[in-house]
Formats: sequence, C-alpha cells, structure tokens
Amino acid sequence: MIKRVQAWLGRKDGQQPVEISPDNIPRHVAIIMDGNGRWAKSRGLPRIVGHQNGMKAVKRATIAANDLGVEFLTMYAFSTENWKRPKDEVDFLMKLPVEFLALELDELIEKNVQVRVMGDADALPAHTRKAMEEAVARTQDNTGLVLNFALNYGARKEIEDCMRSMGEDIRAGVLSPEEITSELIDSRLLSGGLPDPDLLIRTSGEMRLSNFMLWQVAYSELWFTDIYWPEFDKTHLLQAVAEYQRRSRRYGGLK
Ligand code: IPE
Ligand code: IPE
Ligand code: MG
Repeated sequence: MIKRVQAWLGRKDGQQPVEISPDNIPRHVAIIMDGNGRWAKSRGLPRIVGHQNGMKAVKRATIAANDLGVEFLTMYAFSTENWKRPKDEVDFLMKLPVEFLALELDELIEKNVQVRVMGDADALPAHTRKAMEEAVARTQDNTGLVLNFALNYGARKEIEDCMRSMGEDIRAGVLSPEEITSELIDSRLLSGGLPDPDLLIRTSGEMRLSNFMLWQVAYSELWFTDIYWPEFDKTHLLQAVAEYQRRSRRYGGLK
C-alpha cells in the first residue's frame, strides 16, 4: 500500500514521494470545506457552480478516506451562520445533499459506508431532511467508514443545547452537578459516540474554526491548505495525513 501511495503522490505533485505509514492513520478526519465561491469566482462562474463542484470533491474525499482506512470522516457542509447568505444560494445548498445522496447513496452502501448527520435538522427544508434521514436509515447497520455530515451545525448551539439539557436534568432531580464530567458532556454533544477528530483540515487558506466542533478539536492536529475545496482530491488528503504522521502529539505531556 505504501508503494502505491508514494507513486501516486510523486506523479501528481512532482514532489518528493511522501510515505504514509499504515499504522498511524488518523481515526477521525474532520474537514471544513471552504472556498467553493472563490473557486467559481476565479473562473468567472456563479458561486453555485462552485458548490456543485464541491459536491464532487466530497465524493473524492470520501473514497480516499475509505481507501486509506480512516474510520470517521466529518464534513462541515452548512453552518448555523450560513443562513445569512442570499436565499438563492441557501436554497441551492439545501438541494445539494438531496442530489449527492441520489447520485451516490448506492455506491456508499456498496462500500459499507454509514451516513450520519449532526446539526439542527428541524430547521432544514423537508426535502433535505428527508434525504438525510433516508440515507441514515438505509446505512445504519453498515460497519465501514462513518461519513458524518455537519449540516446546519454550529458548535456554540451544540454546547448551548448540551448545557440546557443538563440544567433541565438537574432541575428534574435526575442529575447532580457532581456528575457533570467531560465524558458526560461528550456523550451529550451532537458528535456523541464519535472519537474526537485526530486531524482537522480546512481548505481555501482561511485559518479559523468558524464555529466548528469547538469542544472536540481541543487536541486535534490542524492542517490548512490554500487550495479551494472543489480542487480537493486524494493527493491533498494524503499530504495532510503524511503531515499528521510527522507531528508529535503530546497532549500537554512530554514525548
Ligand atoms: C464553502 O464554500 C461552502 C459553504 C460554506 C457552504 P464557500 O461558499 O464558503 O466559499 P467562499 O469561502 O465564499 O469562497
Ligand atoms: C465555514 O465556512 C462553514 C462551512 C464550511 C460549512 P464559511 O465560509 O461559512 O466560514 P467563514 O464565514 O469564512 O468564517
Ligand atoms: Mg467560505
């Protein structure tokens, strides 16, 4: 496998081959897919064409992560702040999951991928919610890569909801303040059941979190690239993983 990865990287980049060790693949990769609009603008195209091509990159990233043995792939698809965009663009973004799943769900099922979604589903248009629910239901018993879409997701809302639910349980007398631990909070966040991201990727040159998994990325390794999301392919995932493997994760301790 290492040989194949080296050859591929060497050819595509014209750079030194990068070695990926099969023993140290990040279990959970999270991606802030950014730059669709700028990708389109740089080609004189409308922003939605960028989103359309971004959808193809989601497919490439999913296949690449699956081939590499990543266990969890979280994709930031729409934030709680993205409603501020023009209605036409929001409408288009809400149609994309429907289209993506119509095109790709059968292949995802074939590859044993389990689709999940985290975010406030109630605020989604009915067609978006229905497509996501169907994909989740049809793949819930799959045991391969977990493809987790963050859709209408915001970390502050997630933390707010978690705190409110604990407050309500305390008021109802079924939880005591002493029982509030990191583990309890983990289990009550929308990502409950998923390990924290090992590797967080953001495209488009922006170096911020934009309200993404603020609690869970406490010790994630961050990797930024200037390329726009619609350009993302296997090469970039491999570059990110190669860099991840060169990092020394100390968690505040000593090596
Ligand atoms: C990412 O691309 C997609 C979403 C945030 C939904 P953008 O639409 O943010 O593209 P830029 O950042 O404007 O280029
Ligand atoms: C973050 O990108 C949200 C998603 C990728 C879904 P944005 O484009 O919304 O972030 P800002 O506005 O540049 O911080
Ligand atoms: Mg953006």
